[in-house]
Amino acid sequence: MTGRDLAEQHRTEPDLDLAVGLRGASIGYGDVPVVQDVDLTVHPGEALAVLGSNGSGKTTLARGLLGLASVLGGEVTVLGAPVGRLRERGRVGYVPQRHTVSGAVPATVREVVGVGRLARRGLLGRPTAADRAAVADAIDAVGLGDRTRDPVASLSGGQQRRVLVARALAAEPELLVMDEPTAGVDAANQETLARVLAEVSARGTTLLVVTHEAGPLAGVLTRAVVVDHGRIRYDGPLAGAGPLAGDAGHHHPEDPDDHPGTGYRQHQPWTSSRPVRARDGEQ
Ligand SMILES: Nc1ncnc2c1ncn2[C@@H]1O[C@H](COP(=O)(O)OP(=O)(O)O)[C@@H](O)[C@H]1O
Ligand SMILES: [Mg+2]
Repeated sequence: MTGRDLAEQHRTEPDLDLAVGLRGASIGYGDVPVVQDVDLTVHPGEALAVLGSNGSGKTTLARGLLGLASVLGGEVTVLGAPVGRLRERGRVGYVPQRHTVSGAVPATVREVVGVGRLARRGLLGRPTAADRAAVADAIDAVGLGDRTRDPVASLSGGQQRRVLVARALAAEPELLVMDEPTAGVDAANQETLARVLAEVSARGTTLLVVTHEAGPLAGVLTRAVVVDHGRIRYDGPLAGAGPLAGDAGHHHPEDPDDHPGTGYRQHQPWTSSRPVRARDGEQ
């Protein structure tokens, strides 16, 4: 198949095959758009960083995928279905930003993580051995195997963040959306998390990780978009995303000789049906 045939095929590719598809999408709260006119195509198995400074709209973009912020224009599909229409909730995992587990809930680590499994098996039916194993594995994966029976309220903020990561992992989602998963997590546990995400990614799970600093996950996340004032101004390899990419970012997008995305398209021509472009000059 020639490159041209491939390009043609990808232009006509239905959104059904995408993990995430945004076309001219505006997302916001009430009737006020925060994210505006965004095109984003994420294929199954990709590991995407959503970078951008504080207030740029990263969380709003992620929440839009979960139906927690409103799609005000354009089109947003998740695992082939318009937002909110996905039948099986367990297919998408979500770790919200900044949340810890409420101290008012007298639940153990295992119980909170078990809730993640509930999304997958439904409210009916008793947990099977496989369910219990998935919960135990998820707890081990975030390094809390020795805290399984402890009340979540007794854990530190960083440990509680890891409980929420485990809750999302337990559902064995096809798409895992995480908002600042490394925030408040110490360096050793960031490494643990990076290792877990690498495994999850190797199994084929699509990762979409919102972060203002991709450094700790630079070995896992390969592609990045940079959100700036609600618009995507970069879409390409993580290493070309500038300072926000952390260790992976070693050149400057404002350099006129820099052509972000070129190498990326050569390596992975299937990742976008549109030309990758820098949008610095756009309104
Ligand atoms: N629930 C909300 N209602 C109204 N505006 C919001 C809400 N949440 C965020 N915003 C606004 O959206 C903008 C982007 O916020 P956010 O998506 O949280 O950015 P980021 O995650 O990149 O820091 C900010 O100006 C913020 O004030
Ligand atoms: Mg945010």
